[in-house]
Amino acid sequence: MNKESTYTSLLPQVQAVMDESADIIANMANMAAMLHETFGFWWTGFYRVIGDELVLGPFQGPLACTRIAYGRGVCGTAWKEGRTIVVPDVEQFPGHIACSAASKSEIVVPVFQNGKVIAVLDIDSDRLGTFDATDASYLEKMVNGLVG
Ligand code: SME
Repeated sequence: MNKESTYTSLLPQVQAVMDESADIIANMANMAAMLHETFGFWWTGFYRVIGDELVLGPFQGPLACTRIAYGRGVCGTAWKEGRTIVVPDVEQFPGHIACSAASKSEIVVPVFQNGKVIAVLDIDSDRLGTFDATDASYLEKMVNGLVG
């Protein structure tokens, strides 16, 4: 299956398990698990905006940095700029935070509630150039379902 077909079949499955009571941590946990298992990414998870920093949330994969400052790394930049960032080669992204030396490419998608970024979805791959506009578009749709 190509990437687009995989997302097309995964999206309704993820939407179906989103908890209607909108417990965002529960929803993040299931979304991270489903994405990680389906695509076999290196690391798949969320950082939540708490005060003036991002704090590690539900994830799948190896351990990760627990706090990221506003504007720092790919995650902090996606938060600050309020947009999805695709990084084909993490070594070319100034200020990239290397939680794991195995991570080669990355995508970070902001999660909005009432027009404000409340979290980011961060996915790391152990291969270069894994993510593109197709991932961005499906993942943006998917994270919309996190907030009830
Ligand atoms: N690489 C991220 C940090 C988080 S880890 O990849 C899980 C960044 O530069 O923000």
